Amino acid sequence: MRRAPRGILLIGLVLVGLAAFLAALVPLTNGVIEQWARRDVELRSELVVNSIRDRVEREMADRPEALGAFFERLTGDERILALGLCDPAGRMRVATARMPTGVDCRLEGSSLTPRFVRTRLAGERVLVGVFPIAGSNPASLVVLHELAFVADRIGEARWYLALLGFALLVGVGGVGTVLVLASQRRDMRALLTGLHELRAARPDRRPLMDPATREESREIRGLLRDFRETMRREDGSPVEWSPSTLQDLLEKELPDAEVFVVSNREPYIHNRVGDRIVVQRPASGLVSALEPVMRACGGVWVAHGSGSADRETVDAEDHVAVPPGKPAYRLRRVWISDEEQEGYYYGLANEGLWPLCHLAYVRPIFREADWQHYVAVNQRFADAVVREATRPDPVIMVQDYHFALLPRMIREQLPKATILTFWHIPWPNAEAFGICPWKEEIIAGLLGSTVLGFHTQAHCNNFFETVDRFMESRIDRDHRSVVFGGEETMVRPYPISIEWPPAALASQQPVEVCRAAVRERFGLPAEMRIGVGIERFDYTKGILDRLQAIDELLTRQPEWKGRFTFLQIVAPTRSKLASYTALQAEAIRITEEVNARHGREGYQPIHLVIRHHEPDEVYELFRAADVCVVSSLHDGMNLVAKEFVAARDDEQGALVLSRFAGASSELSEALIINPYDVQGMAEALGRALVMREDEQRERMRLMRAHVRERNVYRWAGQILLDASRLRKRQRVQEFEAAD
Ligand code: G6P
Repeated sequence: MRRAPRGILLIGLVLVGLAAFLAALVPLTNGVIEQWARRDVELRSELVVNSIRDRVEREMADRPEALGAFFERLTGDERILALGLCDPAGRMRVATARMPTGVDCRLEGSSLTPRFVRTRLAGERVLVGVFPIAGSNPASLVVLHELAFVADRIGEARWYLALLGFALLVGVGGVGTVLVLASQRRDMRALLTGLHELRAARPDRRPLMDPATREESREIRGLLRDFRETMRREDGSPVEWSPSTLQDLLEKELPDAEVFVVSNREPYIHNRVGDRIVVQRPASGLVSALEPVMRACGGVWVAHGSGSADRETVDAEDHVAVPPGKPAYRLRRVWISDEEQEGYYYGLANEGLWPLCHLAYVRPIFREADWQHYVAVNQRFADAVVREATRPDPVIMVQDYHFALLPRMIREQLPKATILTFWHIPWPNAEAFGICPWKEEIIAGLLGSTVLGFHTQAHCNNFFETVDRFMESRIDRDHRSVVFGGEETMVRPYPISIEWPPAALASQQPVEVCRAAVRERFGLPAEMRIGVGIERFDYTKGILDRLQAIDELLTRQPEWKGRFTFLQIVAPTRSKLASYTALQAEAIRITEEVNARHGREGYQPIHLVIRHHEPDEVYELFRAADVCVVSSLHDGMNLVAKEFVAARDDEQGALVLSRFAGASSELSEALIINPYDVQGMAEALGRALVMREDEQRERMRLMRAHVRERNVYRWAGQILLDASRLRKRQRVQEFEAAD
């Protein structure tokens, strides 16, 4: 045989082999997509159930009839066909119209895990999820989810596979033919000899691919990698999110973007102590989350300069490069007067919006003068951002309840900006929010954002409900967005997290060493079990309830006296406000009482330490503890819970976590408590103290895997990905408008 026909034959064989391989991939793809879609549906059902669980548990005893209408509203959404509530005997008590009769809603034994079954309903494929619901009388929630879209997904995947196959066949065939013809004409003996050698399975000494083919295959590999990456990001399954993933994402998706963060609290505070300047890292969940993101992305962080030496440390433009000694981004400080601070920060933000959004039974206070300061300071920050921007379309990440008006104020001056607002605290239901005298202004301000993020779907739902009640707008539940004044704002849940691995962990000693150091510092004997609570001294954190639970534990289980100590570490915060000083006084009083009741010479049940602790000290305490208690009465997320988990690389330690902290929907392996139930909390503490090491390990492992995977880079990445999608859509709309 001559060389050219032999070459053509070889290419033919390769093409047939490739086609057979692709055909064999089809059933495999069907299986994978089906599994993936099913998991997707299960997750969605869980999400829906988690977001309505509280309300259902509240209302199922008192007003089960109200649940019917509520369920009907939900079934218009998220491909949910029907919803129902069953009693413990497996009888359907409340159900939407499309719920078929005879659905088996019994739970398996005392199982706390949901059960899923695939079935058909009027010829349609559906998935039935049965979820346990707690309450005085444990029952179950049934969710029927349609599965018809799975077939569409499989169809789409097949189509892409066919396209890919066709491109591969054409590519390989074309390149092969060109090579063979070229070899015939120019006698590329080297290449053909290489192919001969391959056939004879001799060790290869020459490149088998020419540079063009190699380049092409690299491109195809790159495309496939991108495709896989996008799929993984979109369906949220494991991607190792790290600073470099985030940097890559910025480079690819938002090239040349100027990034700004705006928050009230600054990440580094310069304070004068005697004749020295000391840098302090504030106790703020917002700062712990955003700081690593800014270290990864660079850019400018605009914040209130609140330190006593802040003015001395900035340049003429009010900038200072941070982190000190290892600069990665710029901090732009904005100055506000004492009077403005009283009105904007202490008044409207912390006496008005903070208690309004946290259901901790502290009455919000609204004063007209505070509102005026709030408006003025928001305007000052908006102007500062606009002055800093050197392009018309920066990416601006606005943080928290201090700046509800900022998104619209920036939008008015930079209409092309991508404004990503994140509300770090809960959003209450419409009725609760309705008492705010400036509710319309606040909502309109937030709706100047491109994307508005909350920690949980429940908070997004409350926001939609509030907009619906008070604003002339269109809510598009399919796109999860609000159109107001002709502009669309996407409203999504983005559960915030911490950096992984946490920077503070790097300098930590082994757990035993940390434990010995903490024992020595507090004068504790070697066998003493240690509990910790570490947070700002805030009434939302349930500190008083926790101290009472310790009292209850020592009363009911006196064997713990002398064997268990609780270290309550609190950072003073907003101490000018009466609600905070009253809390401090009460905490001191209860601590003294409990210590007098249960303590004795050489044994102090509670150590109340009121001072700011830097991250290194906090991590050391976490590593020394047998149990950590987070008992928030209401909390957007609560990063202390995640930090405790991250600190325990020995996979030991138990976490007692309030169900009213957003973190409880993620860290379900913690001992979940209701902080209003002091006895229940005491029981959980007792249970944590006797938890076997293997159980601690199992729970801790799962929680650590969750926090590692869903770290703060993923949080920022998901928001930026949504932003980039919207930016692209906006560009297309601009082209269309120009045509
Ligand atoms: C919460 C808020 C943050 C705030 C932090 C500390 O986490 O969501 O915005 O920074 O508390 O409070 P502070 O008033 O001291 O900044």
